[in-house]
Parts: sequence; C-alpha cells; structure tokens
Amino acid sequence: MKRIAINTGGGDAPGLNGVIRAATLGAVNRGWEVIGIREGYAGVLDPTGAGLVPLDREAVRGIAHIGGTILGTTNRGDPFNYPVEENGTLVPRDVSDQVVRRFQELGCEALIALGGDGSMNLATRLMARGLPRVIGVPKTIDNDLLGTDVTFGFETAVATATDALDKLHTTAQSHRRVMVVEVMGRYAGWIALHAGIAGGGDVILIPEIPYRLEPIVEKLRSRYENGRPFALVVVAEGAVAAGGEMVFRGEKSAFKEHAVLGGIAERVAQQLTQATGYESRSLVLGHLQRGGSPCTFDRVLAQRLGSAAARYLDETTESGLVAMVNGSTRLVPFAEVMGGTRTVEPTDELVLTARSLGIAFGDEAPRTFERKAGNDTPTSGHALRGIVTGSGHGVVVPAVGAKPA
Ligand code: F6P
Repeated sequence: MKRIAINTGGGDAPGLNGVIRAATLGAVNRGWEVIGIREGYAGVLDPTGAGLVPLDREAVRGIAHIGGTILGTTNRGDPFNYPVEENGTLVPRDVSDQVVRRFQELGCEALIALGGDGSMNLATRLMARGLPRVIGVPKTIDNDLLGTDVTFGFETAVATATDALDKLHTTAQSHRRVMVVEVMGRYAGWIALHAGIAGGGDVILIPEIPYRLEPIVEKLRSRYENGRPFALVVVAEGAVAAGGEMVFRGEKSAFKEHAVLGGIAERVAQQLTQATGYESRSLVLGHLQRGGSPCTFDRVLAQRLGSAAARYLDETTESGLVAMVNGSTRLVPFAEVMGGTRTVEPTDELVLTARSLGIAFGDEAPRTFERKAGNDTPTSGHALRGIVTGSGHGVVVPAVGAKPA
C-alpha cells in the first residue's frame, strides 16, 4: 500500500486542520496510508515513535473548523540547524540525513508539507538529500508566498484584525485618541492593507512604502480640525520610516530563520503624541491573528488545497507547491516559489483604492505647519522640530521642511 506523510511547519495559521483533513481523505480514498508527523520534522526524529500519528478518517473527523494544527508545529525545526542538546545546552546540528533515512525506513513515498517559504525551502533541500517527492501547501497569515495568489490563514487573520479595528474605533472616538494598531505580516503589508481598508483606518503604514511622520501628522491634524478628533493608524510590524530600519524585539537565533519583529506601533504612537499633542495609544494584535477558527473562505480554500495535494500526488510525478492561480489550483515548481517574498506593489490597485479613500501612507508630498494660536497653517514653519524617528532611539530629525531621508 502506498504510504505518504503530512507535516505542518513554521507558525500556525487558521486552516491547517482543513488541509490535513482534506489531504488525508483524498489519500485514504485512493487507498493510501497516511502518517502525520508531529511538530515539523521533529516527529520522525523521535526514537520512541510517539512523533508519528496514523491519520485515517476517524483521526481527521470534525477538525476543519478548528484553529491550530492537530499535528503541532514549530519554527525551530530546521533539520539543517536542529537544536540538539549537548552538555546541557542546545546547539545547532545538521540532522537532515537522519530525517531522510527515517523517511526511507518508514517507506513514505511522498510528503505533503504545509508551510510558508521557510518550509518550502527546507523541503527542496531535503529532496536534494534524498527525501521523496514533496507537495507543498501554501500556509501563512502573511500572504507573502510567491507563486500563489493567496495563502490559507490570511483571510482569517484579516478578519480578526478588522474586528479589532471595529472595536478600537469606538474607544478611539469616545476618548478622542489616536489608536496605533500593530498587525503581523513580517516583511509584507498585506494584512495591514486589507484590514486598514476594511476597518476604516485613517493611516496605513506598510514595509513597502517607507513613511515620514509629517504627512501622518498632517492627516491627523486635518481630521481633528474638521470635526473628527480621533484616528486609527494601522501599522504593519515590518513598517519602516524613510531612511530608517525595521524594529525588532527579538534577536535571530541559530534555530530560527527570522528575528521577531515588533515595537513599531509603540514608537509611532510616541512620535505622534510628541508631534501633535493628541493622546495616542498603541497595541499589538500579535498572535491573536493566528488563532481561532478559520473563516469560511479559509475553510474552503484549505480543503481545496488539501484535496488538490492528494490529487497531484496521484496524477503527476512532480514535486511543487499547490498554488491558487486565477481561481484554480495549479502545481507550481518550487523554483518559482523560493528566493523571494510576494510583497505589496506601491502601485497595487488596493493601495490606489486606499489613497482614493483618503487613507494616508505617510509618503505624501511634504507640507509644513506653523502653529498659530490653535490654527495650523501650511507654511514653512518648525512645529515638528524634535520628532524622534528612524531606527535609533532618541534621534532628533531636522525640522519639517528639510529634505526627506
Ligand atoms: O509568518 C507568520 C508570522 O505570524 C509573522 O506574521 C510574524 O512576524 C511571525 O510569524 C511571528 O512568529 P513567532 O511565532 O515566532 O512569534
């Protein structure tokens, strides 16, 4: 009997269980045996065998609407830099040959790997070492994978962020505050852009459009002075000030591909308070965006992708990513998926839509202000002198009107 394996790697995303269910049912219906690997590749390395779960109809019953993954996942599971305990400390070791050997011992003819760019990269490197065929399924709330129009988990994350913005709207309005909301997305601004439009954001800051403070201040002033004395500022965690750098709150470790982003909302809120005098608050939505039940769209998408993974295993001999292209699934070679990130084009229609709705991105043509007894006149004044910006704390930038960085 043909035997295949399924694993989930990297950060979790709503829809993982739907893919597991659909891929398992698709395989079982073809008469295959399915093994689930716990926590990325860790399960195959567990000598007790407890890291492997037989997946049959019963095992995947009633899970498509549940968040997380029944298999568990990890973003510290790179077999080429695997954390191995030596003399009481964890050191990175290359265990890729062990992983490949275990796959061969288990008699697995293929792996369905649910993951983002990191997981697809690992799969291809393991195939080069002898791992059998891999069919990837595009998972990430960031929606930043090349080769596919959409990844599962993204729509749910956007819905969660939008729901949060709706709630923040009323408290911002009641307190006449600027609420600065940090959303995930790593180096791509998709979540911020979609949630910002859906949730009525006044300002959206994304990594692809470096911002300056002056246009944001101008946008806020114009709202406050025109009878809307509150604002929602949606900031992607990877947003970056012109001439500055992304803000990280954790170092990259030997076991983890990416350093942890975070802290930009707090920085922007402080800068806005300082520049405008308006009371500002910041919050980080964080892992809320990865949790909970997948929305309807993600449930359907996940099960389409999972079914297609089993189908491609049956109907082709190729490896690749099950991508969604123009509304249909397609098996895209891994070479087309790796080596880059699908980011927001500044000319994307959604950016144009946001601009036409009056949403500011912080890159608008600089205008300057002079504060005159409660009346700010656009001129060449110095009202913003002393704004803290850029990557360094406490860096004083020149007054408004100076050339942008
Ligand atoms: O890639 C998904 C993602 O949620 C990013 O949006 C975020 O930067 C990162 O993972 C957070 O990872 P961790 O689980 O290590 O906090």
